[in-house]
Amino acid sequence: MELLQVKNLSKSFGTTRAVEGISFTVHEGRCVALLGPNGAGKTTTIRMLAGLLKQTGGHIQFQGAGTELERKSLLGYLPQSPTFYGWMTGLEYVSFIGKLSGLGASDAKKRAIELVERVGIGDAAKRRIRGYSGGMKQRLGLAQALVNRPKLLIMDEPVSALDPIGRREVLKLLEELKRETTVLFSTHVLHDAEELCDDVVIIRRGEIALQGSLSDVRNRHRRSLIELQLEEDERSLSWLRDFADKVSAGAGLVNGHALFKQVEHHQRGAMKVIVDDIDKAREWLLSELAKERVKVNRLEVGHSSLEDLFMKVVAE
Ligand SMILES: Nc1ncnc2c1ncn2[C@@H]1O[C@H](COP(=O)(O)OP(=O)(O)OP(=O)(O)O)[C@@H](O)[C@H]1O
Ligand SMILES: [Mg+2]
Repeated sequence: MELLQVKNLSKSFGTTRAVEGISFTVHEGRCVALLGPNGAGKTTTIRMLAGLLKQTGGHIQFQGAGTELERKSLLGYLPQSPTFYGWMTGLEYVSFIGKLSGLGASDAKKRAIELVERVGIGDAAKRRIRGYSGGMKQRLGLAQALVNRPKLLIMDEPVSALDPIGRREVLKLLEELKRETTVLFSTHVLHDAEELCDDVVIIRRGEIALQGSLSDVRNRHRRSLIELQLEEDERSLSWLRDFADKVSAGAGLVNGHALFKQVEHHQRGAMKVIVDDIDKAREWLLSELAKERVKVNRLEVGHSSLEDLFMKVVAE
C-alpha cells in the first residue's frame, strides 16, 4: 500500500530553487533513504513533508490523512538539529511532547517511561538534557518522534552528526524501528543508506537523479571494471596517461571492438576503467603491459559499486 505520494513537489526561496519538481512514493513497511550531497534539497523536502514548510508547487498525499490533524497523528518527525529545553530532564521532555500530541498527563508519563527505555536512555532519563551527549540527544529526539506511535517516521540526517560510537548505537536502534514502522530518512552518506534502507531516492540540486529499490539500482547500474595500480616511474605513468586519453577520446578499441568504455577514475598510477568484455580486456591489457614494460603493482577485475554510481551521479 502506498503510504505517501509526492508529486512534482517544488520549493523556491526567493530566486533559489531548492526543490524542483520531485516525485516519489513511499510504500507501507519500507525504509526509504533520501540521499544527496549537501544542499541537494533534503531538509527542504523533509520539512515540507512534516508540514513545517509550505511548498511552492506540487502535492503531498498521505494515505488516510486528509486533514492537518490526521497528518500529525500519522507522522513522527526528527529534525536535522533537534533543540531541547536543557533544563528539562529527558523524561519530562518526552512526557511534555506526549501532552502536546494530545495524551493525558498520566498516559504521557507512562508513554515517556516506555520510550526512554526503548531508545536506551532509561538510566539518564531523570538527568537534565543539557548534560546529554550527542548520541543521547539523538535518541531523545527519536523518543519524542515516536510518542504518537507514528505510521511513518521521518528523520533528517539521523546519524550524520554523531561520533562513530553514537552512530553505531543509533543505527542499531533504527534497524529495530524500521521493522515496526515505515521509515523515510535523509542522509548524504551512501553507506548509511545501504545499511538501512530498501529503497533510495537520490536527489541532486533539487531534482531526482535516480530512484528505485536498492537492489534494482545496484543491478541496473552494475558495470564490469578493471582496477590498475602501477609503479609510479615515468615510463609507467606516461603509458597510463596515454591509455586514459585514448579511452576518453573514444578510442578504447581493440581489433575494432570497444573493450574499454570509460575511465572511471585516474590519478597518477591508479586507474579504474569500465570494460565491455572483462576476459578479453584483461587479456589484452596484460599482454600490452608486458610488451610496453609497464610496472604493474596490482590488476584487479570487479564490478562498479554503488559508491562509484553515487559519486558519478552526484558529480554530473
Ligand atoms: N530558508 C532558506 N532560505 C533560503 N535558501 C534556503 C533556505 N533553506 C534552504 N535553502 C537553500 O536551498 C537549498 C537546499 O537546502 P537544504 O537545506 O534543503 O539541503 P540539504 O540537502 O538538506 O543539505 P545538507 O546536507 O547540507 O543538510 C540550498 O541551496 C540552501 O541554501
Ligand atoms: Mg539538510
